[in-house]
Amino acid sequence: MKNPRYIALSALLQVERGANSSQVLDRELKSLPHKDRGFVTELVLGVLRWRGRLDYAIAYLSDRRLEKIEPEVKNALRMGLYQIERMRVPSYAAVKETVNLLKTPWKRSFANAILRGFLREGVKYPERTEPLMYLTHTLSTPEWKALRWLDELGLDGAEKMALYFNSPPPLYLRVNRRKTSAEVLVKALEREGILTEPCREIPLCLKVKKGNPKNSKALRKGFFYIQDIASQMAGFLAAKLASKVWDPCSAPGGKSSHLAELGAEVLASDISFPRMRLALKNFRRLGLRIRVFVGDGEKPPVRGKFPLILLDAPCSSMGIIHRAPEVKWRINPQKLQSLKEKQRKLLERLLPFGERILYVVCTQEREETLSVVEDLTLAEPPKISPENFFLRRGKTLFSNALDFSSDAMFYTVVL
Ligand SMILES: C[S@@+](CC[C@H](N)C(=O)[O-])C[C@H]1O[C@@H](n2cnc3c(N)ncnc32)[C@H](O)[C@@H]1O
Repeated sequence: MKNPRYIALSALLQVERGANSSQVLDRELKSLPHKDRGFVTELVLGVLRWRGRLDYAIAYLSDRRLEKIEPEVKNALRMGLYQIERMRVPSYAAVKETVNLLKTPWKRSFANAILRGFLREGVKYPERTEPLMYLTHTLSTPEWKALRWLDELGLDGAEKMALYFNSPPPLYLRVNRRKTSAEVLVKALEREGILTEPCREIPLCLKVKKGNPKNSKALRKGFFYIQDIASQMAGFLAAKLASKVWDPCSAPGGKSSHLAELGAEVLASDISFPRMRLALKNFRRLGLRIRVFVGDGEKPPVRGKFPLILLDAPCSSMGIIHRAPEVKWRINPQKLQSLKEKQRKLLERLLPFGERILYVVCTQEREETLSVVEDLTLAEPPKISPENFFLRRGKTLFSNALDFSSDAMFYTVVL
Protein backbone atom coordinates (compact mmCIF):
# COMPACT_ATOMS: atom_id res chain seq x y z
CA MET A 1 0.00 0.00 0.00
CA LYS A 2 1.20 3.51 -0.78
CA ASN A 3 2.37 5.66 2.08
CA PRO A 4 0.26 8.88 2.05
CA ARG A 5 3.15 10.95 3.40
CA TYR A 6 5.38 9.69 0.65
CA ILE A 7 2.76 10.74 -1.92
CA ALA A 8 2.57 14.18 -0.25
CA LEU A 9 6.36 14.56 -0.41
CA SER A 10 6.40 13.53 -4.06
CA ALA A 11 3.61 16.05 -4.80
CA LEU A 12 5.51 18.85 -3.03
CA LEU A 13 8.67 18.08 -4.99
CA GLN A 14 6.73 18.19 -8.27
CA VAL A 15 5.26 21.57 -7.30
CA GLU A 16 8.75 22.80 -6.39
CA ARG A 17 9.84 21.86 -9.93
CA GLY A 18 7.07 24.03 -11.40
CA ALA A 19 3.89 21.88 -11.48
CA ASN A 20 0.48 23.16 -10.31
CA SER A 21 -0.68 21.79 -6.98
CA SER A 22 -4.21 21.07 -8.20
CA GLN A 23 -3.03 19.06 -11.21
CA VAL A 24 -0.48 17.15 -9.16
CA LEU A 25 -3.03 16.35 -6.45
CA ASP A 26 -5.65 15.23 -8.98
CA ARG A 27 -3.13 12.80 -10.45
CA GLU A 28 -1.48 11.56 -7.24
CA LEU A 29 -4.63 11.13 -5.17
CA LYS A 30 -5.97 8.53 -7.62
CA SER A 31 -3.41 6.04 -6.30
CA LEU A 32 -4.67 6.44 -2.70
CA PRO A 33 -7.69 5.03 -0.86
CA HIS A 34 -10.41 7.64 -0.22
CA LYS A 35 -9.67 7.73 3.52
CA ASP A 36 -6.15 9.12 2.91
CA ARG A 37 -7.02 11.73 0.27
CA GLY A 38 -8.15 14.46 2.68
CA PHE A 39 -5.00 14.04 4.78
CA VAL A 40 -2.67 14.35 1.77
CA THR A 41 -4.58 17.33 0.35
CA GLU A 42 -4.46 19.18 3.66
CA LEU A 43 -0.78 18.37 4.14
CA VAL A 44 0.32 19.46 0.66
CA LEU A 45 -1.77 22.63 0.46
CA GLY A 46 -1.07 23.47 4.11
CA VAL A 47 2.69 23.21 3.60
CA LEU A 48 2.46 25.43 0.52
CA ARG A 49 0.31 28.01 2.34
CA TRP A 50 2.55 28.11 5.42
CA ARG A 51 5.88 27.63 3.65
CA GLY A 52 7.23 31.00 4.81
CA ARG A 53 6.61 30.19 8.47
CA LEU A 54 7.85 26.60 8.18
CA ASP A 55 11.06 27.76 6.50
CA TYR A 56 11.59 30.33 9.23
CA ALA A 57 11.37 27.53 11.79
CA ILE A 58 13.83 25.34 9.84
CA ALA A 59 16.30 28.21 9.48
CA TYR A 60 15.92 29.04 13.20
CA LEU A 61 16.74 25.48 14.26
CA SER A 62 19.35 24.53 11.69
CA ASP A 63 23.01 25.38 11.40
CA ARG A 64 22.79 24.88 7.62
CA ARG A 65 21.47 27.65 5.40
CA LEU A 66 18.00 26.96 4.01
CA GLU A 67 19.23 27.17 0.39
CA LYS A 68 21.81 24.48 1.12
CA ILE A 69 19.24 21.93 2.31
CA GLU A 70 18.20 19.46 -0.43
CA PRO A 71 14.58 19.86 -1.63
CA GLU A 72 13.71 16.34 -0.44
CA VAL A 73 14.90 17.02 3.12
CA LYS A 74 13.49 20.56 3.22
CA ASN A 75 10.03 19.43 2.09
CA ALA A 76 10.02 16.46 4.47
CA LEU A 77 10.88 18.87 7.30
CA ARG A 78 8.16 21.31 6.23
CA MET A 79 5.69 18.42 6.32
CA GLY A 80 6.85 17.25 9.74
CA LEU A 81 6.63 20.73 11.25
CA TYR A 82 3.24 21.38 9.65
CA GLN A 83 1.85 18.15 11.13
CA ILE A 84 3.10 19.13 14.59
CA GLU A 85 1.99 22.77 14.41
CA ARG A 86 -1.30 22.62 12.51
CA MET A 87 -2.64 19.07 12.20
CA ARG A 88 -3.76 16.84 14.99
CA VAL A 89 -0.88 14.42 14.48
CA PRO A 90 0.88 13.33 17.69
CA SER A 91 4.41 14.76 17.75
CA TYR A 92 6.16 11.40 18.07
CA ALA A 93 4.33 10.08 14.97
CA ALA A 94 5.11 13.24 12.96
CA VAL A 95 8.84 12.91 13.81
CA LYS A 96 9.04 9.16 13.15
CA GLU A 97 7.09 9.29 9.88
CA THR A 98 9.13 12.24 8.59
CA VAL A 99 12.44 10.55 9.37
CA ASN A 100 11.18 7.36 7.69
CA LEU A 101 10.61 9.26 4.43
CA LEU A 102 14.35 9.76 4.12
CA LYS A 103 16.75 6.98 3.23
CA THR A 104 20.30 8.29 3.75
CA PRO A 105 21.49 8.05 7.39
CA TRP A 106 22.76 11.63 7.58
CA LYS A 107 19.50 13.02 6.14
CA ARG A 108 17.58 11.02 8.73
CA SER A 109 19.66 12.24 11.62
CA PHE A 110 19.54 15.86 10.37
CA ALA A 111 15.71 15.75 10.11
CA ASN A 112 15.46 14.03 13.48
CA ALA A 113 17.63 16.69 15.13
CA ILE A 114 15.60 19.59 13.68
CA LEU A 115 12.21 18.14 14.64
CA ARG A 116 13.35 17.16 18.13
CA GLY A 117 14.87 20.62 18.53
CA PHE A 118 11.50 22.11 17.60
CA LEU A 119 9.69 19.96 20.18
CA ARG A 120 12.28 20.75 22.86
CA GLU A 121 12.88 24.47 22.36
CA GLY A 122 10.15 25.66 19.99
CA VAL A 123 10.70 28.68 17.76
CA LYS A 124 10.33 32.32 18.65
CA TYR A 125 8.39 33.72 15.72
CA PRO A 126 8.37 37.49 15.09
CA GLU A 127 5.50 39.33 16.77
CA ARG A 128 3.18 42.15 15.70
CA THR A 129 5.65 44.71 17.05
CA GLU A 130 7.75 43.98 13.94
CA PRO A 131 4.98 44.15 11.31
CA LEU A 132 6.95 43.18 8.20
CA MET A 133 8.75 40.27 9.87
CA TYR A 134 5.47 39.19 11.46
CA LEU A 135 3.67 39.08 8.11
CA THR A 136 6.48 37.45 6.15
CA HIS A 137 7.70 34.88 8.66
CA THR A 138 4.94 34.30 11.19
CA LEU A 139 2.07 34.60 8.71
CA SER A 140 3.88 33.24 5.66
CA THR A 141 3.47 36.08 3.18
CA PRO A 142 6.01 36.96 0.46
CA GLU A 143 7.78 40.19 1.42
CA TRP A 144 6.62 42.22 -1.59
CA LYS A 145 3.00 41.25 -0.89
CA ALA A 146 3.32 41.97 2.83
CA LEU A 147 4.64 45.46 2.01
CA ARG A 148 1.66 46.11 -0.29
CA TRP A 149 -0.91 44.94 2.25
CA LEU A 150 0.74 46.98 5.02
CA ASP A 151 0.76 50.06 2.81
CA GLU A 152 -2.88 49.68 1.65
CA LEU A 153 -4.55 48.27 4.78
CA GLY A 154 -2.30 48.79 7.80
CA LEU A 155 -1.30 45.95 10.12
CA ASP A 156 -4.81 44.84 11.17
CA GLY A 157 -6.04 44.64 7.58
CA ALA A 158 -2.87 42.96 6.35
CA GLU A 159 -3.11 40.38 9.12
CA LYS A 160 -6.74 39.59 8.22
CA MET A 161 -5.80 39.17 4.56
CA ALA A 162 -2.85 36.91 5.32
CA LEU A 163 -4.97 34.71 7.59
CA TYR A 164 -7.84 34.56 5.08
CA PHE A 165 -5.58 33.54 2.19
CA ASN A 166 -3.80 30.97 4.36
CA SER A 167 -7.06 29.15 5.15
CA PRO A 168 -8.73 26.51 2.97
CA PRO A 169 -11.44 28.30 0.96
CA PRO A 170 -15.03 27.11 0.68
CA LEU A 171 -16.06 25.23 -2.46
CA TYR A 172 -19.00 26.69 -4.37
CA LEU A 173 -21.23 24.99 -6.93
CA ARG A 174 -23.19 26.72 -9.67
CA VAL A 175 -26.46 24.86 -10.22
CA ASN A 176 -27.04 24.17 -13.92
CA ARG A 177 -30.52 25.65 -14.39
CA ARG A 178 -30.73 23.94 -17.80
CA LYS A 179 -30.76 20.49 -16.22
CA THR A 180 -31.96 20.73 -12.65
CA SER A 181 -33.05 22.89 -9.74
CA ALA A 182 -31.24 23.67 -6.50
CA GLU A 183 -33.72 21.49 -4.53
CA VAL A 184 -33.21 18.43 -6.75
CA LEU A 185 -29.43 18.87 -6.78
CA VAL A 186 -29.21 19.26 -2.99
CA LYS A 187 -31.08 15.94 -2.57
CA ALA A 188 -29.03 14.16 -5.26
CA LEU A 189 -25.81 15.28 -3.56
CA GLU A 190 -27.12 14.26 -0.14
CA ARG A 191 -27.67 10.75 -1.45
CA GLU A 192 -23.96 10.71 -2.30
CA GLY A 193 -22.98 11.94 1.17
CA ILE A 194 -22.30 15.52 0.07
CA LEU A 195 -23.90 18.23 2.19
CA THR A 196 -24.43 21.76 0.94
CA GLU A 197 -26.16 24.96 1.96
CA PRO A 198 -27.50 27.72 -0.30
CA CYS A 199 -25.24 30.76 -0.76
CA ARG A 200 -26.92 33.77 0.78
CA GLU A 201 -25.50 36.10 -1.83
CA ILE A 202 -26.65 34.78 -5.20
CA PRO A 203 -29.27 32.44 -6.59
CA LEU A 204 -28.52 28.89 -7.77
CA CYS A 205 -25.27 28.71 -5.86
CA LEU A 206 -24.46 26.10 -3.22
CA LYS A 207 -21.67 26.07 -0.65
CA VAL A 208 -20.23 22.63 0.11
CA LYS A 209 -20.31 21.83 3.84
CA LYS A 210 -19.18 18.19 3.75
CA GLY A 211 -17.93 15.69 1.20
CA ASN A 212 -16.21 16.03 -2.14
CA PRO A 213 -18.44 16.71 -5.16
CA LYS A 214 -15.56 16.35 -7.66
CA ASN A 215 -16.17 12.65 -8.24
CA SER A 216 -19.95 12.67 -7.82
CA LYS A 217 -22.57 11.25 -10.18
CA ALA A 218 -24.35 14.60 -10.06
CA LEU A 219 -21.24 16.23 -11.54
CA ARG A 220 -21.01 13.65 -14.33
CA LYS A 221 -24.69 14.23 -15.12
CA GLY A 222 -23.95 17.92 -15.63
CA PHE A 223 -26.09 19.14 -12.74
CA PHE A 224 -23.51 21.70 -11.62
CA TYR A 225 -20.20 23.42 -12.30
CA ILE A 226 -17.65 24.08 -9.56
CA GLN A 227 -17.13 27.84 -9.57
CA ASP A 228 -16.31 30.47 -6.96
CA ILE A 229 -18.88 33.20 -6.24
CA ALA A 230 -16.57 35.92 -7.56
CA SER A 231 -16.39 34.13 -10.93
CA GLN A 232 -20.14 33.64 -10.96
CA MET A 233 -20.45 37.41 -10.54
CA ALA A 234 -18.52 37.89 -13.80
CA GLY A 235 -21.17 35.81 -15.59
CA PHE A 236 -24.01 37.85 -14.06
CA LEU A 237 -22.33 41.13 -15.02
CA ALA A 238 -21.75 39.95 -18.61
CA ALA A 239 -25.34 38.69 -18.94
CA LYS A 240 -26.61 42.13 -17.85
CA LEU A 241 -24.49 43.81 -20.52
CA ALA A 242 -25.40 41.76 -23.61
CA SER A 243 -27.08 38.61 -24.89
CA LYS A 244 -24.43 37.91 -27.53
CA VAL A 245 -20.90 37.47 -26.20
CA TRP A 246 -17.47 36.41 -27.44
CA ASP A 247 -15.24 34.91 -24.74
CA PRO A 248 -11.74 34.76 -26.31
CA CYS A 249 -9.96 33.38 -23.20
CA SER A 250 -12.66 30.90 -22.32
CA ALA A 251 -11.04 27.62 -21.31
CA PRO A 252 -11.99 25.55 -19.33
CA GLY A 253 -15.34 27.20 -19.96
CA GLY A 254 -16.58 28.35 -16.56
CA LYS A 255 -17.86 31.77 -17.58
CA SER A 256 -18.94 30.81 -21.11
CA SER A 257 -21.08 27.98 -19.77
CA HIS A 258 -22.61 30.24 -17.12
CA LEU A 259 -23.54 32.78 -19.79
CA ALA A 260 -25.08 30.09 -21.97
CA GLU A 261 -27.07 28.78 -19.00
CA LEU A 262 -28.35 32.33 -18.52
CA GLY A 263 -29.58 32.32 -22.13
CA ALA A 264 -26.83 34.23 -23.94
CA GLU A 265 -25.51 33.30 -27.37
CA VAL A 266 -21.83 32.55 -26.74
CA LEU A 267 -18.76 32.15 -28.94
CA ALA A 268 -15.93 30.59 -26.93
CA SER A 269 -12.27 30.39 -27.92
CA ASP A 270 -8.86 30.03 -26.32
CA ILE A 271 -5.24 29.86 -27.44
CA SER A 272 -4.74 26.45 -25.82
CA PHE A 273 -5.99 23.39 -27.67
CA PRO A 274 -5.87 21.01 -24.66
CA ARG A 275 -7.68 23.54 -22.47
CA MET A 276 -10.29 24.11 -25.16
CA ARG A 277 -10.87 20.35 -25.25
CA LEU A 278 -11.60 20.54 -21.53
CA ALA A 279 -14.05 23.39 -22.18
CA LEU A 280 -15.81 21.32 -24.85
CA LYS A 281 -16.08 18.41 -22.45
CA ASN A 282 -17.63 20.75 -19.87
CA PHE A 283 -20.11 22.23 -22.36
CA ARG A 284 -21.21 18.72 -23.38
CA ARG A 285 -21.53 17.58 -19.78
CA LEU A 286 -23.66 20.63 -18.98
CA GLY A 287 -25.81 20.05 -22.09
CA LEU A 288 -24.95 23.40 -23.68
CA ARG A 289 -24.50 24.28 -27.34
CA ILE A 290 -21.67 26.78 -27.61
CA ARG A 291 -19.67 27.51 -30.77
CA VAL A 292 -15.94 27.14 -30.17
CA PHE A 293 -12.59 27.59 -31.87
CA VAL A 294 -8.92 27.61 -30.95
CA GLY A 295 -7.15 30.91 -31.59
CA ASP A 296 -4.93 33.68 -30.30
CA GLY A 297 -6.89 36.62 -28.89
CA GLU A 298 -4.04 38.90 -29.94
CA LYS A 299 -4.80 38.06 -33.60
CA PRO A 300 -8.58 37.96 -33.67
CA PRO A 301 -9.82 35.90 -36.63
CA VAL A 302 -13.41 37.19 -36.32
CA ARG A 303 -15.30 39.72 -38.42
CA GLY A 304 -17.65 42.49 -37.33
CA LYS A 305 -18.27 43.73 -33.82
CA PHE A 306 -19.69 41.74 -30.89
CA PRO A 307 -22.06 43.54 -28.52
CA LEU A 308 -19.78 42.28 -25.74
CA ILE A 309 -16.38 40.63 -25.40
CA LEU A 310 -15.79 39.00 -22.03
CA LEU A 311 -12.03 39.18 -21.59
CA ASP A 312 -11.10 36.91 -18.69
CA ALA A 313 -7.42 37.57 -19.22
CA PRO A 314 -4.49 35.35 -18.23
CA CYS A 315 -3.17 36.75 -14.96
CA SER A 316 -0.97 36.08 -11.94
CA SER A 317 -3.83 34.34 -10.08
CA MET A 318 -2.85 36.23 -6.92
CA GLY A 319 -6.58 36.36 -6.05
CA ILE A 320 -6.77 32.59 -5.68
CA ILE A 321 -3.67 31.89 -3.60
CA HIS A 322 -5.87 30.18 -0.98
CA ARG A 323 -6.67 27.56 -3.67
CA ALA A 324 -3.29 27.55 -5.44
CA PRO A 325 -0.84 28.60 -2.70
CA GLU A 326 2.28 27.89 -4.78
CA VAL A 327 1.38 30.96 -6.86
CA LYS A 328 2.36 33.42 -4.13
CA TRP A 329 5.93 32.08 -4.07
CA ARG A 330 6.27 32.32 -7.86
CA ILE A 331 4.92 35.79 -8.53
CA ASN A 332 6.87 39.00 -7.95
CA PRO A 333 6.51 42.63 -9.10
CA GLN A 334 8.61 42.03 -12.25
CA LYS A 335 6.29 39.21 -13.33
CA LEU A 336 3.27 41.42 -12.63
CA GLN A 337 4.76 44.01 -14.95
CA SER A 338 5.14 41.56 -17.83
CA LEU A 339 1.61 40.19 -17.24
CA LYS A 340 0.33 43.75 -17.42
CA GLU A 341 1.89 44.14 -20.86
CA LYS A 342 0.25 40.94 -22.09
CA GLN A 343 -3.14 41.94 -20.68
CA ARG A 344 -2.90 45.40 -22.18
CA LYS A 345 -1.95 44.00 -25.60
CA LEU A 346 -4.90 41.56 -25.56
CA LEU A 347 -7.26 44.36 -24.59
CA GLU A 348 -5.98 46.69 -27.34
CA ARG A 349 -6.14 44.01 -30.03
CA LEU A 350 -9.69 43.03 -29.03
CA LEU A 351 -11.12 46.55 -28.63
CA PRO A 352 -12.05 46.98 -32.34
CA PHE A 353 -14.12 43.77 -32.21
CA GLY A 354 -16.37 44.60 -29.28
CA GLU A 355 -18.84 47.40 -28.63
CA ARG A 356 -17.85 46.86 -25.01
CA ILE A 357 -15.33 44.67 -23.23
CA LEU A 358 -15.89 43.31 -19.75
CA TYR A 359 -12.30 42.98 -18.50
CA VAL A 360 -11.99 40.46 -15.68
CA VAL A 361 -8.98 39.03 -13.81
CA CYS A 362 -8.62 36.79 -10.74
CA THR A 363 -6.17 39.15 -9.09
CA GLN A 364 -6.33 42.56 -7.45
CA GLU A 365 -2.72 43.60 -8.00
CA ARG A 366 -2.50 47.17 -9.30
CA GLU A 367 -0.41 46.30 -12.38
CA GLU A 368 -3.03 43.84 -13.67
CA THR A 369 -6.10 45.89 -12.79
CA LEU A 370 -6.17 49.70 -12.60
CA SER A 371 -2.87 50.13 -14.46
CA VAL A 372 -4.13 48.10 -17.44
CA VAL A 373 -7.21 50.27 -17.94
CA GLU A 374 -6.23 53.65 -16.41
CA ASP A 375 -6.09 55.59 -19.72
CA LEU A 376 -9.05 53.83 -21.39
CA THR A 377 -12.68 54.97 -21.50
CA LEU A 378 -14.63 53.01 -18.94
CA ALA A 379 -18.40 52.60 -18.65
CA GLU A 380 -20.36 52.48 -15.42
CA PRO A 381 -20.64 48.74 -14.60
CA PRO A 382 -24.20 47.37 -14.33
CA LYS A 383 -25.69 47.11 -10.87
CA ILE A 384 -26.24 43.59 -9.63
CA SER A 385 -27.10 42.38 -6.18
CA PRO A 386 -25.79 42.13 -3.62
CA GLU A 387 -24.14 45.47 -4.33
CA ASN A 388 -21.88 45.22 -1.30
CA PHE A 389 -20.23 42.20 -2.90
CA PHE A 390 -18.17 44.77 -4.79
CA LEU A 391 -15.77 47.42 -3.58
CA ARG A 392 -16.02 50.28 -6.08
CA ARG A 393 -13.12 52.45 -7.17
CA GLY A 394 -14.39 54.86 -9.79
CA LYS A 395 -15.89 52.71 -12.52
CA THR A 396 -14.03 49.59 -11.49
CA LEU A 397 -15.13 46.79 -9.18
CA PHE A 398 -13.10 44.64 -6.79
CA SER A 399 -14.70 41.59 -5.18
CA ASN A 400 -15.04 41.94 -1.41
CA ALA A 401 -13.27 38.62 -0.89
CA LEU A 402 -12.88 38.80 2.87
CA ASP A 403 -16.53 39.57 3.68
CA PHE A 404 -17.96 37.06 1.19
CA SER A 405 -15.34 34.28 1.48
CA SER A 406 -14.71 34.51 -2.24
CA ASP A 407 -11.76 34.77 -4.60
CA ALA A 408 -10.24 38.22 -5.09
CA MET A 409 -11.26 39.46 -8.54
CA PHE A 410 -11.40 42.67 -10.56
CA TYR A 411 -14.03 43.71 -13.13
CA THR A 412 -14.46 46.73 -15.38
CA VAL A 413 -16.30 47.66 -18.58
CA VAL A 414 -14.13 49.18 -21.33
CA LEU A 415 -15.74 51.12 -24.20
C1 LIG B 1 -8.22 32.96 -16.54
S1 LIG B 1 -8.09 31.70 -17.71
C2 LIG B 1 -9.72 31.65 -18.38
C3 LIG B 1 -10.74 30.98 -17.49
C4 LIG B 1 -12.10 30.84 -18.17
N1 LIG B 1 -12.58 32.10 -18.67
C5 LIG B 1 -13.15 30.25 -17.26
O1 LIG B 1 -13.99 30.99 -16.72
O2 LIG B 1 -13.15 29.03 -17.08
C6 LIG B 1 -7.22 32.49 -19.00
C7 LIG B 1 -7.17 31.72 -20.30
O3 LIG B 1 -6.53 32.56 -21.27
C8 LIG B 1 -5.90 31.72 -22.21
N2 LIG B 1 -4.98 32.57 -23.00
C9 LIG B 1 -3.74 33.02 -22.65
N3 LIG B 1 -3.23 33.79 -23.62
C10 LIG B 1 -4.15 33.84 -24.61
C11 LIG B 1 -4.23 34.47 -25.88
N4 LIG B 1 -3.22 35.22 -26.34
N5 LIG B 1 -5.34 34.29 -26.63
C12 LIG B 1 -6.35 33.51 -26.18
N6 LIG B 1 -6.34 32.89 -25.00
C13 LIG B 1 -5.27 33.05 -24.21
C14 LIG B 1 -5.30 30.61 -21.36
O4 LIG B 1 -5.08 29.47 -22.15
C15 LIG B 1 -6.38 30.42 -20.30
O5 LIG B 1 -7.21 29.35 -20.63
